[in-house]
Amino acid sequence: MIAPARSPAPLVIHREDYRPPRFVVDAVDLDIQLDPELTQVRARLHLRRQSEADDQPLRLCGEGLALLEIRQDGQTLPKDQYRLEEGALLLLHPPRDFVLETLVQIRPIANTALSGLYFANGHFITQCEAEGFRRITYYLDRPDVLARFGVTLHAEQGPHPVLLANGNRIAAGQEAHGRHWVRWEDPFPKPCYLFALVAGDLGCVRDHFRTASGREVALEIYVEAHHLDACAQAMDALQRAMAWDERVYGREYDLDRYMIVATDTFNMGAMENKGLNIFNSKYVLARPETATDTDYQGIESVIAHEYFHNWTGNRVTLRDWFQLSLKEGLTVFRDQEFSADENSRGVQRIGDVRRLRAAQFPEDAGPLAHPVRPDAYIEINNFYTATVYEKGAEVVRMIHTVLGAAAFRQGMDLYFARHDGQAVTIEDFLAAMEGATGRDLAAFRLWYSQAGTPVVHAAGRYDPAQRRYSLTLRQEAAPTPGQPEKRPLPIPVRMALFSPAGQAMPLRGQEEDGAGDRERILMLDTAEQTWIFTEVSEPPIPSLLRGFSAPVRLEMGFGDAQRAFLASHDDDPFNRWEAMQGLALQALLAAIDQSHGAGVLPELLHGALAAVLSDAQMDPAYRAELLTLPSEDYVGEQMAVIDVEGIHCAREALRRAMGSAFGEQWAADYESLAFPYSRDGVSSGRRRLRNLALAYLLASDASYLDRTRQQYRQADNMTDHLAAFSLLVHQPDADVSDILADFYQRWQQHPLVIDKWFAIQASAPRPDTLAKAQALLQHPAFDWRTPNRVRALLGSLGANATVFHAADGSGYAFLAAQIRHLDELNPQIAARLATPLSRWQRYDAQRQGLMRQALEDLAGKANLSRDLGEVLEKSLK
Ligand code: ARG
Ligand code: ZN
Repeated sequence: MIAPARSPAPLVIHREDYRPPRFVVDAVDLDIQLDPELTQVRARLHLRRQSEADDQPLRLCGEGLALLEIRQDGQTLPKDQYRLEEGALLLLHPPRDFVLETLVQIRPIANTALSGLYFANGHFITQCEAEGFRRITYYLDRPDVLARFGVTLHAEQGPHPVLLANGNRIAAGQEAHGRHWVRWEDPFPKPCYLFALVAGDLGCVRDHFRTASGREVALEIYVEAHHLDACAQAMDALQRAMAWDERVYGREYDLDRYMIVATDTFNMGAMENKGLNIFNSKYVLARPETATDTDYQGIESVIAHEYFHNWTGNRVTLRDWFQLSLKEGLTVFRDQEFSADENSRGVQRIGDVRRLRAAQFPEDAGPLAHPVRPDAYIEINNFYTATVYEKGAEVVRMIHTVLGAAAFRQGMDLYFARHDGQAVTIEDFLAAMEGATGRDLAAFRLWYSQAGTPVVHAAGRYDPAQRRYSLTLRQEAAPTPGQPEKRPLPIPVRMALFSPAGQAMPLRGQEEDGAGDRERILMLDTAEQTWIFTEVSEPPIPSLLRGFSAPVRLEMGFGDAQRAFLASHDDDPFNRWEAMQGLALQALLAAIDQSHGAGVLPELLHGALAAVLSDAQMDPAYRAELLTLPSEDYVGEQMAVIDVEGIHCAREALRRAMGSAFGEQWAADYESLAFPYSRDGVSSGRRRLRNLALAYLLASDASYLDRTRQQYRQADNMTDHLAAFSLLVHQPDADVSDILADFYQRWQQHPLVIDKWFAIQASAPRPDTLAKAQALLQHPAFDWRTPNRVRALLGSLGANATVFHAADGSGYAFLAAQIRHLDELNPQIAARLATPLSRWQRYDAQRQGLMRQALEDLAGKANLSRDLGEVLEKSLK
């Protein structure tokens, strides 16, 4: 009954087929008798037909529901008046305006897909986005049907003293058999994907927020009682996010109560249900002993993200799921800007771009590539992607860049004014931006419909006689599935020109605007364009795509000399970092090409690193960014055929060379950056740099093993403890079984820390890792039903290049076998785990064959889920 949707002939949903709903739901009243084994859901829907002329049947979505009763306006509906179909309840002759009452039975304890209502670790939890509500009751499960919800929850009081749902708590009481009930009503009409309920034995951390207009909002974070001391960061981030949205967007919170619940069993990061956010505990719980600085950062950004959804997502919601980026891209942009304002803007931007390049660029270049607004899908859960989220955020950022902050804000104000309470489209968003500013964003629409990452080639020419500099930018893009031809996109290229002495030069040219400004945004909106800069007294060095002003790959035809110049002179923090990365990348690619390890540091890279290492004034977090080598994956992305082993060897050799070339500086940093633990940004930057120093020292000098062990033992915080642990476990040939046992022993009561224990072992670039992973599947702490645990072991293994891509195919076969098993339990997670296999075209012929074989074996599986089926079908096309 509870089994996830499995359909033999997958149905493709097309954006063009959108039709407005023929019925609206004026009100929903739910009465839910919670029981892990058999929960009964009574739903009273007040339904109203939209058009007099229409006499079609009414189709309500429903999956895995056992229908016990059905009534129309109080009368039991005769059998010939309705029909049950796969995934639906059809009312054959519905009146124009009526109350439908259904009673269904579901089995939360058997819901391992974690979509709909499930029971895990003693708690009832819901996840309704995208289409989970139909697994709770029969409904018009689509985002453009907005209704007012009232819910009465009943449960056994002992194990479930806390009963939560959206909106306002209206009443509560006791009933027979040790049960109790609570009534909730949400005054804001909402689509059912924003419905939520939680029942369990939870403690609560309370605080307040006073809105700009003076309303008191109760803030409540619900966690298991032993975690009450681990909510400070979440609460603080929430209050800061609320203040930020008032300050930057003029948006206040709108209910009297804002609740957050943390659960260990959750498919995604978090969910913005109206007034009742549900979070993966990873993004709520933190104490210095158990959470790293990165964990603290993640909490801040996800708490803010879900809060910001209250306006971008909830108050203004989606017409259909193709518009997903309307809320996700926009909300990611908002949370990135929040984090940039709260921390270091430069470091934030570098991290955002690193994530975009690590996840979205490969997606956009592979068989799963799709536009930010897709045209078709089989399973919508497969479209919660880096493209919809991160590239979507980049598109919003470009609009922000070309309009400017003030005009962007006017556009947002108009968007909210026009569409509050509505379910709208990306088109409506762009129209509001245009309406408020008088700007024409017609060309920008292509960013939403065209997939693939454009490549921008830049070429500059200096004419000393004319004192002119001409810059030519040319764009192209490779075909993506279903889109063989690509049209030119509008690409804002923020740029500056530097004099050889390192000064940004005044920019003068034909389209003079504000004479003498030293930074300009060039709008490349044709295949090729040339800009002429005049009165250029010396040959300039261009700094292009500053702040990563567009999600493109930039090819600059640059030599290392220019890179080294920008690495020391560029005053744009992103481009300075980019220049350093470029130097390191060239060193790595050259080493791979000549199949030697990068045993020697190229002179220019050496000089650039030396300058950063000796710059004690620089923010330590930024310094750490500059000194970190591009990831193996990023290096692979730059190669025609990814040479897994070559990349790993070259990068390791370069790390060793960097360690020994600057041994003294690293050692000095390591000693001088030791401070007692504190939770501020400067301190976390110091920890980051110090742990990077230790990594380089250990790479080049085995005697640092003892020092690393000492740090592991003595650290007063998880960042330092885990950094040492990870270095030890990733040592190619050290015996660290004592450390592994010790770590487990210490932290076994802390699931989020044990996730790290699994993840670090599965990411070790060691020959024995696959055997280890195989063994870990049998470990008592491994649990197929906990997505965090599954991702820790199997997600990490799939991302471990040298192990996953072992030449004999053992990594592929291993992962495929686990996906096959997982697909029976949790198709959403199974489908996601398959993405590394989908990238087969990027490897050599032998690996291609083995990867395809693994995919084909999986595709032959009986009872394949729609989720996994779609990923496999597209990957094998
Ligand atoms: N809307 C959530 C967010 O803020 C993501 C929920 C996605 N869940 C899913 N099962 N697809 O990002
Ligand atoms: Zn979101």
